[in-house]
Amino acid sequence: MISGLHHYALEVPDLEVADDFLTDFGLETAEKDGALIAQCPGRAQEQVRMTQGQVKRLHHVSFTLVPGSLDAVLGSLERARAPLIEPPAGADESGTWLRDPDGNAVQLLPTEQAPAREVPEVLINSGASRQRVGSAAWREVTGDVNPRRLGHSLLFTRQPGVMTDFYTKVLGLKVSDTIHHDVVTFLNAGPGDHHIFGFISSTHPGFHHASFEVPSIDAIAIGADRMRSRGRAAGWGLGRHTIGSNFFHYNPDPWGSWIEWFSDIDQIDDCWVAGDWDVPPHLWGAPPPQTFLANSEPLADAGPHRA
Ligand SMILES: [Fe+2]
Repeated sequence: MISGLHHYALEVPDLEVADDFLTDFGLETAEKDGALIAQCPGRAQEQVRMTQGQVKRLHHVSFTLVPGSLDAVLGSLERARAPLIEPPAGADESGTWLRDPDGNAVQLLPTEQAPAREVPEVLINSGASRQRVGSAAWREVTGDVNPRRLGHSLLFTRQPGVMTDFYTKVLGLKVSDTIHHDVVTFLNAGPGDHHIFGFISSTHPGFHHASFEVPSIDAIAIGADRMRSRGRAAGWGLGRHTIGSNFFHYNPDPWGSWIEWFSDIDQIDDCWVAGDWDVPPHLWGAPPPQTFLANSEPLADAGPHRA
């Protein structure tokens, strides 16, 4: 019933710091409803929302629904006795609001995903295939390197089984693959990206990372160079992931979580069979920094946005 990730929202202590960071990452920012919002250039869809708070923590996560599935979702939520809630302060108030089993506020929007920005075809000469003949790659690949769309987000949870059951049995996502049973769980919304959402086992709930598609592996590396040139802390990458197969580079955000660029993620169809894998997160490249799986959010969260 969920068709895709619409946007994610964090509470952060300083919106100016957030504005500078998201701008360096390649997003376009604006003020809306007293919050900071960010979009991908050329895509008419809010992708990030930041509201003022004492510490960084997840404010809410927002999904689009398959057209015509709202009644089925409401019935499913009722059967699961999942509480519907009022929109939290600072959120866009449209759609249906609920709490997931971790107490995260979730928005469901009965709207379609906005199309990602059109980009020129990236022609490569790889394997025995020769797609690019008569043009020089180095003169083409720097033309458009900005994020096209928000692809996925992963959250920390201390109850991955319960959260996975909720998002699959109640909200209609499917398990794409897992690592070490439930250490990392990747979820899809049907044909398309290998994962749009997922969970990392932790001592408590938290926001781990969000990931944006860029046009090519070159765009990822150029973005990483841009972050370095602007004095941003070293991240993780360049590499290729195992699960999902996407090329990646992560930058730490100013609050101890991560933001990622990706390209060339596996596309799945209705015949995809989920597997459980005993693999590291990267196929090649340097291993992740020790801080990569640190959950920096408060352990005892008495805030208004978690039950
Ligand atoms: Fe990711």
